[in-house]
Amino acid sequence: EPEVIRDKAAMRAWARRRRAEGKAVALVPTMGFLHDGHLSLGSVAAAAASASGPVAVVVSIYVNPSQFAPTEDLATYPSDLAGDLRKLAATGAVAAVFCPPYLYVRAGAGGSGHETWIRVERLEKGLCGSSRPVFFRGVATVVAKLFNIVEPDIAVFGKKDYQQWRVICRMVRDLDFAIDIIGSEIVREADGLAMSSRNALSIHRSLVNAKTAALNGNNHSQQIKDQIVQTLAEAGGQVDYVEIVEQESSVALERMDRPAAICVAAWFGKVRLIDNIEIQTH
Ligand code: PAJ
Repeated sequence: EPEVIRDKAAMRAWARRRRAEGKAVALVPTMGFLHDGHLSLGSVAAAAASASGPVAVVVSIYVNPSQFAPTEDLATYPSDLAGDLRKLAATGAVAAVFCPPYLYVRAGAGGSGHETWIRVERLEKGLCGSSRPVFFRGVATVVAKLFNIVEPDIAVFGKKDYQQWRVICRMVRDLDFAIDIIGSEIVREADGLAMSSRNALSIHRSLVNAKTAALNGNNHSQQIKDQIVQTLAEAGGQVDYVEIVEQESSVALERMDRPAAICVAAWFGKVRLIDNIEIQTH
């Protein structure tokens, strides 16, 4: 069972104790809702460090607000801490899970929020940076904070987020962090889709949100459909269709005033995914 640590000072003290015991500390930063891609990073961390001696692997779970633009929906980012802890325990590779309730506080009226940023000026531009201009400064800054709290010898990042991995490597080099950065290979589904909390799960999430809205009294199909299109676009998907139909007849409903089904197909890259949810509003 990994130790669950929520406090920054406790995390730093824990990591220093491991190092005093002669262990290397390896950090795997994540935003939770873990899948096999994330879990592979923990094993890679354990293996990489054990090659050079004993290791203590720390997985951090923190949904970092500073890498989401105001238009991107931070609130719908999926989370399942109990499930994550179960999965991490099952790997047997992880000694501690750092899940701080907050690390970054948005700059507020009183000037009490965060105002220091790390920017990797050239690498943060282009690719994902073109459509997400504040993303990489948010990532670099929160990862630097994690590095300062955990003080790891090694940190592991997935090559799925290729630009992110390169940004972190550059930050470590430019700012003299004494940390070995390991780029870990992409873990894929059987059909080749890169595993992601945001693709298949974002469809499911958008449907659950739609169902909640419907059960709370919004029965306007068009509004619900627009919301789903927007949520999936933010997750990098392109909707093929989203239809709200009567369950038995599959006839399109303008109002969800009888048993309905919301059916979605969306493209994520070259992969087309479908999902649906049934809604009984009466
Ligand atoms: P998150 O999206 O949770 O990803 C955490 C780590 O898992 C990243 O290094 C990512 O590249 C890796 N990863 C995700 N899917 C993978 C896959 N299919 N195969 C291999 N590795 C995979 O990336 C972030 O969180 C955040 O930006 C973070 C670095 C934690 C900073 O907030």
